[in-house]
Amino acid sequence: MPGAAPFGVNLIVHKSNPRLDADLELIVRHQVPLVITSLGAIADLVQVVQGYGGLVFHDVTNVRHAEKALEAGVDGLIAVAAGAGGHAGTMSPFALVDEIRRFFQGPLALSGAITRGHQIAAAQMMGADLAYIGSHFIASEESLASPAQKDMVIGAGPADIVYTDRVTGVGANFLRPSLEAATLPEPHGALSVSEEAKAWKTIWSAGHGVGATTAVQPARSICERLIAEYQAALQSE
Ligand SMILES: Cc1cc2nc3c(=O)[nH]c(=O)nc-3n(C[C@H](O)[C@H](O)[C@H](O)COP(=O)(O)O)c2cc1C
Repeated sequence: MPGAAPFGVNLIVHKSNPRLDADLELIVRHQVPLVITSLGAIADLVQVVQGYGGLVFHDVTNVRHAEKALEAGVDGLIAVAAGAGGHAGTMSPFALVDEIRRFFQGPLALSGAITRGHQIAAAQMMGADLAYIGSHFIASEESLASPAQKDMVIGAGPADIVYTDRVTGVGANFLRPSLEAATLPEPHGALSVSEEAKAWKTIWSAGHGVGATTAVQPARSICERLIAEYQAALQSE
């Protein structure tokens, strides 16, 4: 797609995802340059994306998932450490990056509560190549989150983030006020992808970095600040 800005898509690779085949077909048709997979790393899918020159990066929260993803042939890994939004890991970012770097020297992104440019520089000093940021963009103007969800992120601090498996069957971080407003199901196994999509809509997720999100801003302003802070951090070394 000549002239297009760099872009990527997130693909939930799970048997219960009814859209997987249709989404993959679209990805191939548009030759999406970066495909981020989560939940399952499947060698066949990786080969399809690499076949048109695309890259596959896979979300991992522990060493076993990282090893399995590399066996499936992914190009890069995203270490989702403790404090991240969504299905966060429970490992310290220091330990997670260090463990992965013992057997993988390829592209590695680090995520989990990153909101500042100097933290991006810190992620690189720890051994990651890239920083990966989610929650901090929930309150961007471009985000499709509802105004109420953006307000809740802006009003929250790290003490308002609760890690629980009660919503989707797998540990994830949620905003306490939205958890308290919801009726939680009894403890259950993992949900199907369509059940899970409903759960994320009613109970809102965010990571420990919410305290640094204080206003709704255009994504461009957030990125410009991150870049300035990153460059200042490099110069102060
Ligand atoms: C509301 C929300 C929804 C998310 N949905 C997904 C998802 O569908 N697939 C996925 O791989 N990661 C998902 N994530 C996790 C992010 O991709 C990323 O790993 C995480 O947000 C990084 O940590 P941070 O939020 O602290 O910056 C989600 C995160 C949030 C906050």
